[in-house]
Amino acid sequence: MKKLAWLALLLACVVLPLGAYVRLSDAGLGCPDWPGCYGRLSPAHAATAIAQAMQLQPDGPVSPDKAWKEMLHRYLAGSLGLLILWQALQAWRSGRQRRVAGLLLLLLALQALLGMLTVTMRLQPLVVTAHLLLGMSLLAVLLWQAAGSRWPGVRVRAGQRRLAWLLLCLVAGQIALGGWVSSHQAALACQGFPRCNGSWWPSSSLADAFVLQSGALPMASLVAMHWLHRLGALLVMLVLGLLCWRLWSIPGLRRQLLLLLALGLLQPMLGVANVLWLHPLPLALAHHAGAMLLLAGSSMLLCRLQVPAAYRPLRQHWLGWQSRSSTVRPWRGGMLSRRQGHRRTARWPCLPV
Ligand code: HEM
Repeated sequence: MKKLAWLALLLACVVLPLGAYVRLSDAGLGCPDWPGCYGRLSPAHAATAIAQAMQLQPDGPVSPDKAWKEMLHRYLAGSLGLLILWQALQAWRSGRQRRVAGLLLLLLALQALLGMLTVTMRLQPLVVTAHLLLGMSLLAVLLWQAAGSRWPGVRVRAGQRRLAWLLLCLVAGQIALGGWVSSHQAALACQGFPRCNGSWWPSSSLADAFVLQSGALPMASLVAMHWLHRLGALLVMLVLGLLCWRLWSIPGLRRQLLLLLALGLLQPMLGVANVLWLHPLPLALAHHAGAMLLLAGSSMLLCRLQVPAAYRPLRQHWLGWQSRSSTVRPWRGGMLSRRQGHRRTARWPCLPV
């Protein structure tokens, strides 16, 4: 079961960047139907249909190369789906990790639906963005499932855990904004850094970033979404800095905090490099991988932060699980003593499953 979970996680780490590669190399419509390619199992079987499409539109979205990229992504995503299904079956039989297996199944079903809609709705930005965000969520849950029980829990105050939740939500929001920018091809709408097209604050309103209409958006909208993505990065960095500052005194967390800080600095730097070097494919892929790591790091951190049971009776009751520390009362006058409160709780599973 554990091996399957790691295999699924490894496969997800390949499928996600491959999906970004397909999109960034304009191969998203390499096979314009779903699930097959022109109704066939592979582009080799659909060679005649692909040749006809190329004759009609020589510079169009269809070519054998693009069709293979798109289909490779579908084959690997399909294999990941089968692994998740197999895991769910095993969880059902053994009665272990049923909740997380159920969550994975739900995410998988939604992701398959969005994968289909991405193609059949011809790369609609809203669908592409949702597909990216859901893929990242799938990755985070797979990571929890594979490694969650290995991370020792660390007791913290409720406010500290809330801040970690805020960071995770902001990173997810920032990923969604990135997907929004990418699917509108607004990577170069703001040229230069730190200023955008020579200005400190673009004249377009930030609300312009969320215009929902088919066809190309006006330049003001592209600039607004790009600018918002930059502001989002600033907010993520601020909250990450604040969280690290508040958790720094906890000895067992320092290495993880340092790693997260490094990722939180590297990711905006990759974003800036994309702007300054006019969005080359390797840098765009590195920016995608950086987002994956940042999300994985912040969800892993959140998973480790545990609020003592005495402080969360309601939630504990809801989830129906009892933490090992429920007999320990580390709270003295509302304050957590450093010695007791921040003690590591070895083999305390990250997920209450
Ligand atoms: C916490 C910081 C950041 C996160 C988590 C993040 C995340 C993302 C993600 C997930 C994408 C979509 C990638 C894809 O297509 O798969 C993206 C796109 C992009 N981001 Fe960021 N980003 C961050 C900061 C920045 C900064 C500071 C800049 C520039 C100053 C930037 C510039 C861009 C550009 C130009 C794109 C479009 C590239 C493309 O088409 O793929 N990002 N970002």
